[in-house]
Amino acid sequence: MAAMAAVALSACCCVRGEKKSLDAQVEDILSQMTLEEKIAIIHAQSKFSSAGVPRLGIPELWTDDGPHGVRPDVLWDQWNSAGNTNDSCTAFPALTCLAATFDRELSSLYGVSVGEEARYRKKNVLLGPGVNIYRTPLGGRNFEYMGEDPYLASRMCVNYIKGVQSNGVATCVKHFCLNNQEFNRHTVNVKVDDRTLYEIYLPAFKAAVTEGGSWSIMGAYNLYDGTHLCHNSRILNDILKKEWNYDGVVISDWGGVSDTEGAVKGGLDLEFGTWTDGLTMGATNSYDRYWMANPYLEKIRSGEYGTDELDDKCRRVLKLMLRTSLYDNGGPGRFTCPEHYAAARRIGAEGIVLLKNEGGLLPIAADAAKIVVLGENAIKPMTVGGGSSSLKVQKEVSILEGIRNAFPNAEVIYERAYQGSTKGGYDNYGAYDITDERSAETLVADALKACEGADYVIFAGGLNKDWMQDAEGTDRVDYNLPYGQNEVIEALAAVRSDLVVVNVSGNAVAMPWADRVGAIIQDWYLGSEAGNSLADVLSGAVCPSGKLPFTIPVALEDGPLKTPEQYPGVKGEDGIWQEEYSEGIYVGYRWYEKTGVKPRFAFGYGLSYTSFAIGEPKLSSKVLRDKLTVTVPVENTGDVRGAEVVQLYIGADNSVVDRPVKELKGFEKVWLNPGEKSSVSFTIDRQAVSFFDTEIHDWNAEAGDYTIYIGSSSDDISSTARFSL
Ligand code: BGC
Repeated sequence: MAAMAAVALSACCCVRGEKKSLDAQVEDILSQMTLEEKIAIIHAQSKFSSAGVPRLGIPELWTDDGPHGVRPDVLWDQWNSAGNTNDSCTAFPALTCLAATFDRELSSLYGVSVGEEARYRKKNVLLGPGVNIYRTPLGGRNFEYMGEDPYLASRMCVNYIKGVQSNGVATCVKHFCLNNQEFNRHTVNVKVDDRTLYEIYLPAFKAAVTEGGSWSIMGAYNLYDGTHLCHNSRILNDILKKEWNYDGVVISDWGGVSDTEGAVKGGLDLEFGTWTDGLTMGATNSYDRYWMANPYLEKIRSGEYGTDELDDKCRRVLKLMLRTSLYDNGGPGRFTCPEHYAAARRIGAEGIVLLKNEGGLLPIAADAAKIVVLGENAIKPMTVGGGSSSLKVQKEVSILEGIRNAFPNAEVIYERAYQGSTKGGYDNYGAYDITDERSAETLVADALKACEGADYVIFAGGLNKDWMQDAEGTDRVDYNLPYGQNEVIEALAAVRSDLVVVNVSGNAVAMPWADRVGAIIQDWYLGSEAGNSLADVLSGAVCPSGKLPFTIPVALEDGPLKTPEQYPGVKGEDGIWQEEYSEGIYVGYRWYEKTGVKPRFAFGYGLSYTSFAIGEPKLSSKVLRDKLTVTVPVENTGDVRGAEVVQLYIGADNSVVDRPVKELKGFEKVWLNPGEKSSVSFTIDRQAVSFFDTEIHDWNAEAGDYTIYIGSSSDDISSTARFSL
């Protein structure tokens, strides 16, 4: 085997000492492959791997979830854990948290770190990041995505991808596209107009492949225009491969392929996880019966299909292999090292969003004598659960532990106050049981009693990774917090108006008690260092600087999705749910600003322990030709070190089409010492003022006047400036 590998590798790397281009290497290998070998590399051979070409010494390709850490190994042909002892990883914060940092450097740090973990585990393709747009707070997988704004998601995914791939591990950006809900994810057909598709739902994927250079991309389960997105020719061939010139691999979502014709012609390259007839778990050689396995081979042999499509798929898969499994510069990687825990802790702390802080209640005074921690989420493991992003971790610091670590001299008392979901785990790992025998009334009474004489009372609740909460395969059914938490918070707030509420979730939740509590923190699923990241913010070791990557409406009804046709869709006789994205481009803050409905907390919002003065923007020119620069002074006017995210939005003063009041087109996070002054600058180009013009099927930068809005959130604009094109 070693000798064969040497032959193939020397054949694909050098000719008379000269390094061959990737394409030339691909052609070289392809020319040596048999038809059967070609078929073998375009479909799975196990739950997470596809075959190599053993005769040519080309190794298998190993994929793994993604996106918050490297998923533990499962058995060859079953979802059950393999029971290995070397796959307990570092869990990084969920991607909603990364988005909330509004910090591209942290995307790099995240990508490099999780990529190193994947490399160490000998994974070639990491199944992430997810960049589907947050369309409704009920969306079960929003926690794996990067918020409601296409510009934010685009900017934040690029460095994640580059970071992962710097290790010779491919990202697989998912789920392409229009996979904005989990409810009926296999059978919902999205109808969306082209302008909305291009302006809202495609930009992050485009940035991921054209700027991030993601070597693979995953099709989505749902349908668009009547065809499943794992073989939707318009999306995969016309847009991805032709318009965006993509040379990477389209991988199906697991089981997302439903026929050979679609798979062959529709733009798919590599088929995974398909449960073809009678072939579910453990069937012998089920993989030979995948749509792109024997059925495809037979059709080629019978002459029904030629081999052009096959060769194109193989070229792409071989290129992916040359970039990953055959790539020899990726280094050994690193796993559960102090640097990764430090990265996870930092990203977590910098993504936490302080939503309310009455009278400077937080940070907790260093000499606090008694701190009462309440709520199930203070003790509940959150790295396990939620579907395919579930992890097996080497450690997970709970909120309670994190607070205890940060305040070793204080008396820290715990009471759970409510009981929700008490048992969890996955197969043979991560099992826990936090069942409490007390009644709901007793739990509240005991919590109230514990509060007596406390310097601080912190309630840590929210959602969790259970079915119908923040989890794959299902959406939430209620915008309210589950398990009666609203009532519990009201009861606590009645005796403690300085209650600190920590909401752990990947989604907006109703906060009817917001006016009656002292502080609110939007916490996320923060991974291995969850409790320490939160305690860093609570103690003031880290000044909060996160900003909301999505709007938190007062009520669900305030949002753009008003009818069943819009969400969750209406079931047709053919069993397909038809869903109209008739709100068009008015998603998230674009909707609230158009309608004037005030959300509870706006997109881009987040408080700090210090204060900032954002000065007047200076434009390099009043006229945009190709580019203009906007410089904005910022000063830390408070007395602790902190960071502000200066946000730049643009609105068209006049347009031939209906346009949002304003749209995010720039953000810069800047850390400043007390009294320190600095400035941030933004480059505006024609793309920043363009809308997608369906008449010319292209972006259109209209001549006219534009307003720049500078602020610390979408609803806190401190100054404006104008320019024209
Ligand atoms: C999910 C993907 C995941 C894949 C493999 C699918 O059900 O939708 O996001 O990568 O499974 O676990």
